[in-house]
Amino acid sequence: MIGTGTLVLKAPAKINFGLDILHRREDGYHELKTMLVPISLADTLRIQIAAREQFSCSDTTLPQDAGNLVIRALRLFEESSGIATSLNIHLEKRIPTGAGLGGGSSDAAALLRGVNQLYGKPLSRDELLELAALLGSDIPFFLYDCPCYATGRGEMLVPTLFPSLPGLIVFPGFPVSTAIAYQAVDLSLTSGSRFVSLKGFQRSDLASAGWRDDISNDFESVIFRLHPELGDLKKKLYDSGAGYVSLSGSGSAVYALYESRQIGDEARLMIPANWSVFSIETLLHGTGLPREI
Ligand code: C5P
Repeated sequence: MIGTGTLVLKAPAKINFGLDILHRREDGYHELKTMLVPISLADTLRIQIAAREQFSCSDTTLPQDAGNLVIRALRLFEESSGIATSLNIHLEKRIPTGAGLGGGSSDAAALLRGVNQLYGKPLSRDELLELAALLGSDIPFFLYDCPCYATGRGEMLVPTLFPSLPGLIVFPGFPVSTAIAYQAVDLSLTSGSRFVSLKGFQRSDLASAGWRDDISNDFESVIFRLHPELGDLKKKLYDSGAGYVSLSGSGSAVYALYESRQIGDEARLMIPANWSVFSIETLLHGTGLPREI
């Protein structure tokens, strides 16, 4: 049975709260431990059954064809389900690309969720998760759609709680390649976040500065060496009263979490005018949809 109408799907960004790179695996990926948290900054994906396939994307610097991760996800869905789809798809981008915020991965997850719904759910939740992992390491997380503790190459997930906090995302205007960042990390220097200390942690823990000492991102040393202005930004955001500041993933975006929205708004003033700043919140459900895929 084919579903009807148009679906408008929210594709939220994520931040990494701590990221430990453990070792390089035989398959070339890196084994890691991280906490992935959905945030309110989001792209929008509109999909509609149509007479012929059409794809457009508001960001014309991204592939407008089969090279776009959204279309790669669609082809994989077709292969796996045996359904020849015909969709009109529009992607409205807000999440900066190459920022470590998972924008492309979230768009692909939204496509998988949406097309499966439009065509009457031919694939199970587990089948969708398998396709997601084939497409990219953090795409399964966006199908879970809630804060998760992630291991493996980022695809092994355990849902967890994370307090709802206001924050800022700062994007310096240039991207970082995740693959190159992994190659550049010195694996002998990685730190080891104490994720275990996060059991039951709450908004009020921000004030205690405990997170600052316990939870770190192993990409920071290499990325801050290549781009010292990002390390300076981190210091300034702490000086401005942030409770926790970190690079997200392999960057280039840096995020700051605050106890109150007001402190974050004041901090915006010291960020270079040509960088992008987004006010965000950490979320328990990124898409606002029920948890079921
Ligand atoms: O899986 P995804 O396509 O998002 O990863 C992009 C690149 O980042 C991979 O090609 C790989 O070089 C690197 N990567 C890694 N270890 C991970 C995740 C990604 O080395 N756990």
